[in-house]
Amino acid sequence: MSTAYDIVDHTYDVVVVGAGGAGLRATLGMAAQGLSTACITKVFPTRSHTVAAQGGMSASLGNMGEDSWQWHMYDTVKGSDWLGDQDAIEYMCREAVPAVIELEHFGVPFSRTDGGRIYQRPFGGMTTNYGEGIAQRTCAAADRTGHAILHTLYQQSLKHQAEFYIEYFALDLIMEEGVCRGVVAWDLSSGKIHRFRAHTVVLATGGYGRAYFSATSAHTCTGDGNAMVLRAGLPLQDMEFVQFHPTGIYGSGCLITEGARGEGGFLTNSDGERFMERYAPSAKDLASRDVVSRAMTMEIRDGRGVGGDGDHIHLHLEHLGTEVLAERLPGISESARIFAGVDVTKEPIPVLPTVHYNMGGIPTNYHGEVVTLKDGDPDSVVPGLMAIGEAACVSVHGANRLGSNSLLDIVVFGRAAALRAGELIGRGTPHKPLPKDCMEPILGRFDKLRHAKGSAPTATLRLDMQRVMQSHAAVFRTGDVMQEGVDKMAKIYGDFDNVSVQDTGLEWNTDLVETLELDNLRGQAVVTINSALNRQESRGGHAREDYPDRNDENWMKHTLAWVNPDGSVKIDYRPVHMNTLSDEIEPIPPKARVY
Ligand code: FUM
Repeated sequence: MSTAYDIVDHTYDVVVVGAGGAGLRATLGMAAQGLSTACITKVFPTRSHTVAAQGGMSASLGNMGEDSWQWHMYDTVKGSDWLGDQDAIEYMCREAVPAVIELEHFGVPFSRTDGGRIYQRPFGGMTTNYGEGIAQRTCAAADRTGHAILHTLYQQSLKHQAEFYIEYFALDLIMEEGVCRGVVAWDLSSGKIHRFRAHTVVLATGGYGRAYFSATSAHTCTGDGNAMVLRAGLPLQDMEFVQFHPTGIYGSGCLITEGARGEGGFLTNSDGERFMERYAPSAKDLASRDVVSRAMTMEIRDGRGVGGDGDHIHLHLEHLGTEVLAERLPGISESARIFAGVDVTKEPIPVLPTVHYNMGGIPTNYHGEVVTLKDGDPDSVVPGLMAIGEAACVSVHGANRLGSNSLLDIVVFGRAAALRAGELIGRGTPHKPLPKDCMEPILGRFDKLRHAKGSAPTATLRLDMQRVMQSHAAVFRTGDVMQEGVDKMAKIYGDFDNVSVQDTGLEWNTDLVETLELDNLRGQAVVTINSALNRQESRGGHAREDYPDRNDENWMKHTLAWVNPDGSVKIDYRPVHMNTLSDEIEPIPPKARVY
C-alpha cells in the first residue's frame, strides 16, 4: 500500500498538530527552547477556531476589584461539579496571572481601564470570596479576545522560527508498542503523504462540536486528534459532558458571548420575565452555563418560550446603550445584525442553548502528557504523546466549564506542554528508525476511504449522526431516549461501511476530507452517547431526568471509553484527583451547587 503513495519524510524533536491557541502557545514555547518544532494544521493558523472566542480569558489580576487565585480555583472546582482534578485546577488558576501578563508582553491588544490596566468583565460562575460576590475576572479584548490572542501567538511562533505545514490533514499517529513515534499527514495541496518522526507529538486539534446539528463550533471542529487516539487503542475521558452555551443565535447557532450578560444583558421569557432570578437568585443571568441552559430549556418546555413557535428566548442588550455596545460588544452587535436581522440597540436577540464545548477528551496530567489506565495504574503516561486545549481532558473543567476558562486552559497548558517537552527531550537526541510496517494500516484506511464506492453520501450519514446526537444527547437526558440514541448511532456507525466518495483525486479533495472528518466524528459520537447512558447521575452538563441528583458515592470518577473495531464501546474509570499541589489551599470538599 505505502508504495502506491509518494511519501515525504521529516524529522523533528516535536510535532504539534493543530494551530489554535493551544497549538500555537505550545509551538512557540517548544521552538523558543531550541527544540526543532513543526506545527501541522488543516486550516491556515489564524483561521483556527480560537479566532471565534469572544468574551475573554479568566485570571485573578484584580484590576477591577479584589481577587485571588484561590477564589478562582474554588469557582472552577464548583463549576466542574466536583469532577475536575484539583491539582490541575490549582496549577491553571495560579498560572493564569503570569499567563495573561505574558500575552500582554507578546502584544495582545487587551481592552483597557481608564487607568490603563487590562479590562476585566464579569462572567458566569466567577465570584469573589468563595461565592459571596460577582468577580470581574475575565480579561477581554472587546468581544474578539480569541482573535487577538491567536494572531499574536502566530506572530510569536514565526518569530521563533517554528516551521508550519499549513493545510495538511493529520491522518494517524505512528505508534510502536505503546509509544508514540510520529504522525502521518496528507498535504491537501500537493496530494503527497508526509511522515513526521518526532520525540513528542502534541495533539491540539480542538473539540468535536460538529458531531451535533447545531453548534457554535466551526465546521472544522471534528475532533481529529481525539479520533486518532481512539484508533491508537487509547481511551477518551468524560465524553458524556457536552456544554451547551446559553446564547447561540436562534437558527444559525452563531455565538453571542456570555460577556454580553457580563456587561449587563439579561434573558426574558414570553411574559417578559427575567426568569433567571427564579432559578439562580444570587448569580441570576451569570450563573454557570449548565444552570442557565437548563433554565432556558425549562421555560421553553413550560410554554414560556418566545417567537411564533415559542421555541427560543430573548437576550436584551438595548438598555446598555450604543456607547457600551460599540466599545465592548462590537462583534456580537454585527453577528446579531447579520444572523438574526436584529439591531441590538433597539431589540432583543433570539437565542437558544447551543452545543459549544467538549469537557471530555484525551486524558492528560497537568504537564500535558497523555495518560491511560494501564496495569492498574490510572495515571500511566503514554510516552511521546501529549494533548492540550479542547482536545484534552486535563481535567480542569470536570462536568462543566466556566466561561473564559477555555482561553485560559489553552494558554496555560500549551505553555506547560512546552516546558515539559523542554525537560524531557535532550537536544540532538537521535531518532530510532520507524517500524517498517507502520504505514500500512494508516494508508490502508486512507486508501479504502478514497476509493469507497458504497451508496451512502457522506453528507447524508453526517446529517443522520448530527440529528441523533442533537435529540438523544441533549441538555436534558433520560435512559430511554439515550438507549434509542445508542442504537441509532450504532447503526449509523455501521452504515459508514457503505459510504461513497466520488472524487478519488489527491489534490484539494474536499469530498475525501469530509469523509475522513466523518470517520473521526462517528467514533466520538458513539463514545459520547454510550458514556452518557452509562453515567447514572446528574452532574454539571449531564442532566438526567431519571437520575436527577449528583451521586458522589458511586459516580465521582472519570469515565474512560474505548471504541472497539465494530463500534461497540468499552468503559472503565479513573479516580478524580482531590489533592491540591501546595499547602496554600486545602482540597475543596464536595457540596451542593447553589448559585
Ligand atoms: O461566551 C463566550 O464568550 C465564550 C467564552 C468561552 O466559552 O469561554
